[in-house]
Amino acid sequence: MPKVKCKLVAWEEVVNWAYQLSQKILESGWHPDIIVAIARGGFVPARLLCDFMDIHELLSIQIVHWGRAAEITTEAHVKYPYQLDLSGKKVLIVDDICDTGDSLIVAKKYVEENWKPGEVKLATLQWISPVAKITPDYYVDEVKDWTWYQYPWTRLEDTANFIEKIVDENKDKKEWTKSELVEKFKEDYGIDVGEPYYTLAFRLLEAYGRIKLQGDKIVVTGRKG
Ligand code: ADE
Repeated sequence: MPKVKCKLVAWEEVVNWAYQLSQKILESGWHPDIIVAIARGGFVPARLLCDFMDIHELLSIQIVHWGRAAEITTEAHVKYPYQLDLSGKKVLIVDDICDTGDSLIVAKKYVEENWKPGEVKLATLQWISPVAKITPDYYVDEVKDWTWYQYPWTRLEDTANFIEKIVDENKDKKEWTKSELVEKFKEDYGIDVGEPYYTLAFRLLEAYGRIKLQGDKIVVTGRKG
Protein backbone atom coordinates (compact mmCIF):
# COMPACT_ATOMS: atom_id res chain seq x y z
CA MET A 1 0.00 0.00 0.00
CA PRO A 2 1.33 3.47 -0.90
CA LYS A 3 1.93 5.90 1.99
CA VAL A 4 0.11 8.72 0.22
CA LYS A 5 -2.95 8.17 -1.93
CA CYS A 6 -2.15 9.70 -5.33
CA LYS A 7 -3.88 9.82 -8.66
CA LEU A 8 -1.71 10.34 -11.71
CA VAL A 9 -3.80 12.56 -13.99
CA ALA A 10 -3.41 12.43 -17.80
CA TRP A 11 -3.94 15.47 -20.06
CA GLU A 12 -6.90 13.79 -21.77
CA GLU A 13 -8.67 13.36 -18.43
CA VAL A 14 -8.30 17.08 -17.81
CA VAL A 15 -9.91 17.91 -21.16
CA ASN A 16 -12.76 15.52 -20.39
CA TRP A 17 -13.29 16.97 -16.90
CA ALA A 18 -13.28 20.53 -18.25
CA TYR A 19 -15.85 19.50 -20.85
CA GLN A 20 -18.07 17.93 -18.16
CA LEU A 21 -17.68 21.02 -15.98
CA SER A 22 -18.71 23.29 -18.86
CA GLN A 23 -21.84 21.20 -19.43
CA LYS A 24 -22.83 21.40 -15.76
CA ILE A 25 -22.46 25.18 -15.83
CA LEU A 26 -24.39 25.57 -19.08
CA GLU A 27 -27.14 23.20 -17.90
CA SER A 28 -27.58 25.30 -14.75
CA GLY A 29 -28.67 28.17 -16.96
CA TRP A 30 -25.96 30.52 -15.63
CA HIS A 31 -23.52 31.94 -18.16
CA PRO A 32 -20.43 33.74 -16.87
CA ASP A 33 -19.22 36.91 -18.62
CA ILE A 34 -15.68 36.45 -17.43
CA ILE A 35 -13.46 33.76 -15.94
CA VAL A 36 -10.88 34.39 -13.22
CA ALA A 37 -8.26 31.65 -13.06
CA ILE A 38 -6.63 31.09 -9.70
CA ALA A 39 -2.87 30.96 -10.34
CA ARG A 40 -1.37 28.66 -10.87
CA GLY A 41 -3.59 25.56 -10.65
CA GLY A 42 -6.64 27.07 -12.32
CA PHE A 43 -4.89 28.13 -15.54
CA VAL A 44 -5.38 25.04 -17.67
CA PRO A 45 -8.95 24.27 -16.52
CA ALA A 46 -9.91 27.94 -16.96
CA ARG A 47 -8.52 28.13 -20.48
CA LEU A 48 -10.32 24.92 -21.47
CA LEU A 49 -13.58 26.25 -19.99
CA CYS A 50 -13.17 29.43 -22.07
CA ASP A 51 -12.99 27.23 -25.15
CA PHE A 52 -15.89 24.92 -24.26
CA MET A 53 -18.12 27.84 -23.21
CA ASP A 54 -17.06 30.41 -25.80
CA ILE A 55 -15.89 32.87 -23.15
CA HIS A 56 -13.40 35.49 -24.36
CA GLU A 57 -12.60 37.27 -21.11
CA LEU A 58 -10.03 35.58 -18.89
CA LEU A 59 -7.93 37.02 -16.13
CA SER A 60 -6.10 35.76 -13.10
CA ILE A 61 -5.46 36.19 -9.42
CA GLN A 62 -2.58 34.46 -7.66
CA ILE A 63 -3.23 32.94 -4.27
CA VAL A 64 -0.20 31.64 -2.39
CA HIS A 65 0.20 29.64 0.76
CA TRP A 66 3.12 28.09 2.44
CA GLY A 67 3.65 24.36 2.50
CA ARG A 68 4.54 21.74 -0.07
CA ALA A 69 2.97 18.94 -2.09
CA ALA A 70 0.63 16.68 -0.13
CA GLU A 71 0.97 18.64 3.10
CA ILE A 72 -1.65 20.78 4.74
CA THR A 73 -1.01 24.38 3.72
CA THR A 74 -1.83 27.51 5.72
CA GLU A 75 -2.32 31.28 5.41
CA ALA A 76 -3.72 31.75 1.94
CA HIS A 77 -3.39 35.29 0.59
CA VAL A 78 -3.44 37.30 -2.65
CA LYS A 79 0.13 37.61 -3.95
CA TYR A 80 -0.28 40.74 -6.10
CA PRO A 81 -3.43 42.65 -5.09
CA TYR A 82 -4.82 44.90 -7.84
CA GLN A 83 -7.96 46.91 -8.44
CA LEU A 84 -10.45 46.34 -11.26
CA ASP A 85 -13.95 47.41 -12.23
CA LEU A 86 -16.06 44.40 -13.20
CA SER A 87 -19.36 46.22 -12.55
CA GLY A 88 -22.34 43.99 -13.14
CA LYS A 89 -20.34 41.10 -14.56
CA LYS A 90 -20.99 37.47 -13.78
CA VAL A 91 -17.63 36.11 -12.67
CA LEU A 92 -16.62 32.47 -12.55
CA ILE A 93 -13.56 31.76 -10.40
CA VAL A 94 -11.80 28.55 -11.47
CA ASP A 95 -9.25 26.35 -9.75
CA ASP A 96 -8.11 22.78 -10.35
CA ILE A 97 -9.13 21.40 -6.96
CA CYS A 98 -11.05 22.43 -3.87
CA ASP A 99 -9.05 20.77 -1.07
CA THR A 100 -9.28 22.87 2.13
CA GLY A 101 -11.10 25.51 0.05
CA ASP A 102 -8.86 28.31 1.37
CA SER A 103 -7.71 29.55 -2.07
CA LEU A 104 -11.28 29.78 -3.31
CA ILE A 105 -12.50 31.47 -0.13
CA VAL A 106 -9.73 34.09 -0.28
CA ALA A 107 -10.15 34.67 -4.04
CA LYS A 108 -13.93 35.05 -3.82
CA LYS A 109 -13.71 37.48 -0.89
CA TYR A 110 -11.05 39.53 -2.68
CA VAL A 111 -12.97 39.71 -5.96
CA GLU A 112 -16.22 40.65 -4.19
CA GLU A 113 -14.58 43.33 -2.07
CA ASN A 114 -12.32 44.86 -4.73
CA TRP A 115 -13.61 44.24 -8.27
CA LYS A 116 -17.32 45.19 -7.90
CA PRO A 117 -18.66 42.07 -9.69
CA GLY A 118 -22.39 41.47 -10.25
CA GLU A 119 -22.19 37.84 -9.15
CA VAL A 120 -19.37 35.42 -8.30
CA LYS A 121 -19.47 31.63 -8.57
CA LEU A 122 -16.81 28.97 -8.04
CA ALA A 123 -15.86 25.98 -10.22
CA THR A 124 -13.26 23.23 -9.78
CA LEU A 125 -12.52 19.86 -11.32
CA GLN A 126 -12.34 18.05 -7.96
CA TRP A 127 -13.93 18.76 -4.57
CA ILE A 128 -12.49 16.94 -1.54
CA SER A 129 -15.71 16.99 0.47
CA PRO A 130 -14.50 15.70 3.89
CA VAL A 131 -11.88 18.46 4.31
CA ALA A 132 -13.20 21.38 2.24
CA LYS A 133 -14.60 24.38 4.14
CA ILE A 134 -16.83 25.23 1.18
CA THR A 135 -18.62 23.54 -1.70
CA PRO A 136 -17.88 25.01 -5.15
CA ASP A 137 -21.00 25.97 -7.11
CA TYR A 138 -19.78 23.62 -9.84
CA TYR A 139 -17.43 20.62 -9.69
CA VAL A 140 -16.98 17.36 -11.59
CA ASP A 141 -15.87 14.84 -8.97
CA GLU A 142 -16.64 14.66 -5.28
CA VAL A 143 -13.57 13.00 -3.69
CA LYS A 144 -14.57 11.29 -0.45
CA ASP A 145 -11.20 9.74 0.38
CA TRP A 146 -8.43 12.40 0.46
CA THR A 147 -6.17 12.01 -2.56
CA TRP A 148 -3.25 13.95 -4.02
CA TYR A 149 -4.18 14.69 -7.65
CA GLN A 150 -0.94 14.66 -9.56
CA TYR A 151 -2.01 17.01 -12.38
CA PRO A 152 0.20 17.23 -15.47
CA TRP A 153 1.05 20.89 -14.74
CA THR A 154 2.72 20.10 -11.42
CA ARG A 155 4.46 16.91 -12.42
CA LEU A 156 8.03 18.07 -11.96
CA GLU A 157 7.29 20.16 -8.87
CA ASP A 158 5.45 17.28 -7.16
CA THR A 159 8.10 14.72 -8.13
CA ALA A 160 10.87 16.88 -6.68
CA ASN A 161 8.86 17.57 -3.50
CA PHE A 162 8.04 13.90 -3.01
CA ILE A 163 11.64 12.80 -3.56
CA GLU A 164 12.82 15.48 -1.15
CA LYS A 165 10.35 14.14 1.42
CA ILE A 166 11.67 10.59 0.96
CA VAL A 167 15.22 11.81 1.52
CA ASP A 168 14.11 13.77 4.63
CA GLU A 169 12.22 10.83 6.08
CA ASN A 170 15.18 8.46 5.74
CA LYS A 171 17.59 10.53 7.80
CA ASP A 172 20.16 7.81 8.33
CA LYS A 173 20.55 7.09 4.64
CA LYS A 174 23.14 9.49 3.21
CA GLU A 175 23.52 7.83 -0.19
CA TRP A 176 21.01 6.48 -2.68
CA THR A 177 21.18 5.17 -6.21
CA LYS A 178 18.81 6.82 -8.70
CA SER A 179 16.87 3.60 -9.13
CA GLU A 180 16.52 3.11 -5.35
CA LEU A 181 14.94 6.55 -5.09
CA VAL A 182 12.67 5.98 -8.09
CA GLU A 183 11.52 2.64 -6.62
CA LYS A 184 10.86 4.25 -3.23
CA PHE A 185 8.91 7.04 -4.97
CA LYS A 186 6.72 4.48 -6.76
CA GLU A 187 6.22 2.53 -3.52
CA ASP A 188 5.36 5.52 -1.31
CA TYR A 189 3.20 7.41 -3.79
CA GLY A 190 1.80 4.54 -5.85
CA ILE A 191 2.41 6.30 -9.18
CA ASP A 192 5.09 6.32 -11.87
CA VAL A 193 5.61 9.74 -13.50
CA GLY A 194 8.16 8.36 -15.97
CA GLU A 195 11.05 10.18 -17.59
CA PRO A 196 12.05 12.97 -18.04
CA TYR A 197 10.52 13.81 -14.64
CA TYR A 198 12.82 11.78 -12.37
CA THR A 199 15.95 13.12 -14.04
CA LEU A 200 14.66 16.70 -13.96
CA ALA A 201 13.61 16.34 -10.32
CA PHE A 202 17.12 15.15 -9.35
CA ARG A 203 18.63 18.14 -11.17
CA LEU A 204 16.24 20.51 -9.45
CA LEU A 205 17.07 19.10 -6.01
CA GLU A 206 20.75 19.42 -6.86
CA ALA A 207 20.22 23.07 -7.84
CA TYR A 208 18.50 23.62 -4.46
CA GLY A 209 21.52 22.13 -2.69
CA ARG A 210 19.65 19.13 -1.30
CA ILE A 211 21.55 16.42 -3.15
CA LYS A 212 24.69 15.94 -5.21
CA LEU A 213 24.61 13.76 -8.31
CA GLN A 214 27.67 11.55 -8.75
CA GLY A 215 27.08 9.30 -11.74
CA ASP A 216 24.30 6.94 -10.67
CA LYS A 217 24.86 7.84 -7.02
CA ILE A 218 22.93 10.48 -5.11
CA VAL A 219 24.56 11.96 -2.04
CA VAL A 220 22.31 13.78 0.44
CA THR A 221 23.89 17.17 1.12
CA GLY A 222 21.16 19.23 2.75
CA ARG A 223 17.82 18.83 4.41
CA LYS A 224 14.88 21.07 5.12
CA GLY A 225 14.29 22.14 8.68
N1 ADE B 1 -3.50 21.30 -4.17
C1 ADE B 1 -4.07 21.33 -2.95
N2 ADE B 1 -4.58 20.14 -2.63
C2 ADE B 1 -4.33 19.30 -3.67
C3 ADE B 1 -4.59 17.93 -3.91
N3 ADE B 1 -5.22 17.17 -3.02
N4 ADE B 1 -4.16 17.40 -5.08
C4 ADE B 1 -3.51 18.18 -5.96
N5 ADE B 1 -3.24 19.47 -5.81
C5 ADE B 1 -3.65 20.04 -4.65
